[in-house]
Amino acid sequence: MRAHFNSDNYAPVLPEVMAAIAAANQGHAPAYGADAVTARVEARMRAELGEHAHPFLVLNGTAANVVALRALLRPWQGVVCAESAHLNVDEGGAPETMAGIKLLTVPAPHGKLTPELVATRLVRIGDEHAVQPGAVSVTQSTELGTLYAPQELAALAEQAHANGMALHVDGARLANAAAALDVPLRAITTDVGADAVSFGGTKAGLMLGEAIVLLREEMAPALPYLRKQSMQLASKMRYVAAQFEALLEDELWRRAAGHANAMAARLAAAVVDLDGVTVTHAVQANAVFAVLPPGVAERLQRDWGFYTWDERTGEVRWMCSHDTRAEDVDAFAAAIAAAVAGTRSA
Ligand SMILES: Cc1ncc(COP(=O)(O)O)c(C=O)c1O
Repeated sequence: MRAHFNSDNYAPVLPEVMAAIAAANQGHAPAYGADAVTARVEARMRAELGEHAHPFLVLNGTAANVVALRALLRPWQGVVCAESAHLNVDEGGAPETMAGIKLLTVPAPHGKLTPELVATRLVRIGDEHAVQPGAVSVTQSTELGTLYAPQELAALAEQAHANGMALHVDGARLANAAAALDVPLRAITTDVGADAVSFGGTKAGLMLGEAIVLLREEMAPALPYLRKQSMQLASKMRYVAAQFEALLEDELWRRAAGHANAMAARLAAAVVDLDGVTVTHAVQANAVFAVLPPGVAERLQRDWGFYTWDERTGEVRWMCSHDTRAEDVDAFAAAIAAAVAGTRSA
């Protein structure tokens, strides 16, 4: 394989994060999050996201989403989300199975909800026969590599609150979004009125670790119990905390995610005008989606790692990460150009 554009999950751990794990590996420390590193990282997250932020470290993003939603919802409530949401298409039914949460999905162009789209699921309110919408979940940046502007999130939060619902942000790629928008993390979470955030660490360069950040005081007391019940209370929490501490130090997350975003922009710019290549979504974070002439993706996949995203349309996804090299992007773009040209001369 010449280079991987499969996923930011394929990327290695950031060296600073690896060093932080080693540094945390000194002697004994209290378990289950009662250690000094976890206390420091919780304080750090409060500094980033506001004094009322309550961070809870967990082990993966599916759990962050499911446990956060358990905190936001009552048993008869569901969550409005885009049809393309990770919650809906890539969590193996975890929200439904582990938490009994019904997903109220909406077809959402380019992966983005709008108040108008959400409104289509705000029906049968007060009807005991119908699941009641209790939260809206948005993904920032989206599964399709697009972004919500802060004011778009604020409008969704306002609508949710006006209807007695909460706003959850699936921020598996929150770092990419904040880096792309050139704003602090709180500008797309706390400041827009979000109630809970799944703050992703793994795709930003951790070995493993995500944080559920509750931004509403009254939900926080339940979270320790929900996290434990959901099997996400890490006994050696200090190693998860140490990784996040490194990621937050001097905004390492912004440098790492900013680089990934820049590489995606470079790739998009190199292929967008090629005859036969259709870039299908605005490239606003670290992913490029495209449709290629028949057979081209399969030919490229012999040498280059990437996924076919939609088997029906042949749409492919090219994902960049903190370690993507400009020369690999350029070589890949040249390979795409050659493969596409080959189909025309054939
Ligand atoms: C938008 C989004 N949310 C959540 C996740 C977290 O998933 P995992 O449980 O694999 O860490 C992912 C990972 O692909 C994702 O893309």
